[in-house]
Amino acid sequence: MPDPSATHDSVVVFEDVSLHFGETVALDQVSFRIDRGQTWVFLGEAGSGKTQLCKVMMGLVRPDSGRVTIFGEEITSKGERDMFAIRSKIGMLFQESALFDSMTIEENVAYPLENQPVRHCGREQIHDRVVEALRFVELEKTLDKVPSELSGGMRRRVGIARATVTAPPLAIYDSPTAGLDPITANNIMAFIAKQRDLKGTTSIIVSHRYQDGVLMANYYYDEAQGRLVAATGDRLAAVDTTFVVMRDGRIVFLGPQTELEASTDPYVSKFGRR
Ligand SMILES: Nc1ncnc2c1ncn2[C@@H]1O[C@H](COP(=O)(O)OP(=O)(O)O)[C@@H](O)[C@H]1O
Ligand SMILES: [Mg+2]
Repeated sequence: MPDPSATHDSVVVFEDVSLHFGETVALDQVSFRIDRGQTWVFLGEAGSGKTQLCKVMMGLVRPDSGRVTIFGEEITSKGERDMFAIRSKIGMLFQESALFDSMTIEENVAYPLENQPVRHCGREQIHDRVVEALRFVELEKTLDKVPSELSGGMRRRVGIARATVTAPPLAIYDSPTAGLDPITANNIMAFIAKQRDLKGTTSIIVSHRYQDGVLMANYYYDEAQGRLVAATGDRLAAVDTTFVVMRDGRIVFLGPQTELEASTDPYVSKFGRR
């Protein structure tokens, strides 16, 4: 079992976390520890518990049993007020982006800044940070548009800007490439890697596309070239990526890419194929 006191570098620790909806088991005795700077990729069939796991991590859903520690704080017993402060350190891209349809792109991206427990910046500063976050995903020209005017891939990029506008040390991306064509999907993953490699963001990615994980585990964003580059040597160690495969709320695999690809378990190996 992971020991939360073992390292001060732990960002997320789950200890025997279980969650049920009536008879349905969403999470079943889930344990793992994510350290600062790491990338974790969660794979698994629809309904295997990936989204609920993200929501528990953010304190949006309370588990029935077990302990969850985020940035060294045990959140399972915290009240809403304390959760606010912890949540402000986590950026989240929700499944399907979950943008507010009636708000402009600027208002959407400003939302996490406007709704922090303590407002750190004034109007003008908020505007500047929104523009900067949108520039990061190359969408600074869409400020005054509404989500319905953008393509699916662009909306996903707005979702990334909204998730990262507060410069969170931890970002969770729930199915960032779902429903996108392969080229657009790779583009989205490049922005997620860019966020990780330029800002040092600990990154959690839920996906059903193994290629998304392979990209995070083998490429880094090179600022000078402005694109992803194959990682070797020290770089490869720095893009330290762990894969998890979930089934019926349980972790059935946890390890590096090489082990996932070597797995002979029929369910697990299905997710370790390109
Ligand atoms: N609000 C809910 N009420 C009842 N069951 C739910 C609810 N949300 C999720 N579940 C169930 O919990 C399990 C895990 O769901 P989820 O985390 O959304 O899976 P995934 O993201 O891997 O597709 C599924 O069996 C799902 O049907
Ligand atoms: Mg899901």
